[in-house]
Amino acid sequence: MSAPLLEVEGLTKRFRRGGREFAAVDGVSFSMAQGETLALVGPSGSGKSTVGRLLLRLTEADAGSVRFGRADLLQLRGAALRSVRTKLQMVFQDPLAAFNPRATVARLLDDPLRVNGVVARGRRSMAIAELLERVGLSSALASRGVHEISGGQRQRVAIARALATGPSLIVLDEAVAALDVLVRADILRLLRDLQRQERISYLFISHDLGAVRSIAHRIAIMDAGHIVEQGDTAAVIANPQSKTGKALVAATPELPHARENVS
Ligand SMILES: Nc1ncnc2c1ncn2[C@@H]1O[C@H](COP(=O)(O)OP(=O)(O)O)[C@@H](O)[C@H]1O
Ligand SMILES: [Mg+2]
Repeated sequence: MSAPLLEVEGLTKRFRRGGREFAAVDGVSFSMAQGETLALVGPSGSGKSTVGRLLLRLTEADAGSVRFGRADLLQLRGAALRSVRTKLQMVFQDPLAAFNPRATVARLLDDPLRVNGVVARGRRSMAIAELLERVGLSSALASRGVHEISGGQRQRVAIARALATGPSLIVLDEAVAALDVLVRADILRLLRDLQRQERISYLFISHDLGAVRSIAHRIAIMDAGHIVEQGDTAAVIANPQSKTGKALVAATPELPHARENVS
């Protein structure tokens, strides 16, 4: 087994609430291999999104370390941080909501290519067509406005945008939660295919054990800022050990088939 892609140790983030400090993420440790999907599951408010934001340095940690390849992610500054940031991307539940609704799909995909200097100016429209193709969309979609396309297409564009900088890890924060069941299955299949082709790792944040079961190799269960249980997906779902794990499994009566291509 090769060295882990990501090693998180003692990650801690405190927030203030009503004049009192509390740890939203409290000494969290886990590791991820290249090409692996780790699901982070747990009740609302347990600290899942904060873990994702800490990894992306969208929020600064109070303690802990995050080894990513050879770098200690939490110590990076300036150019070194910008460079490593291209390797880490995040996709949200409604990822295009923050953009100008009149922006075209091409504009959305051009941003990361331009900002990061990934592709020379003259090649960018070709690169955009290639990105669309990688996520199963027609290049004709490039000229459409982001408000003119369906929810599933928007999520594919968001994934394409994340892929633009050539990431080795994508944090998917409830990325399929808003989609109807058939579209969700399509997007999960796309994510699995991309992972197989490109060895990308996913931190798959979700409260949906069905989706988790179809995509994740391992599960970490969070509650109140702590990881209370982690293990292989099938084992954890079949026989959860923690109180939170048992409650989550009990709350999901129908679980679809397990991920077929666990490697
Ligand atoms: N910027 C913030 N300021 C204060 N409290 C926050 C902030 N972000 C998250 N929290 C709190 O931290 C806890 C964990 O939040 P979050 O990571 O979003 O949980 P989850 O994604 O598991 O639902 C919650 O109690 C939330 O209210
Ligand atoms: Mg969240």
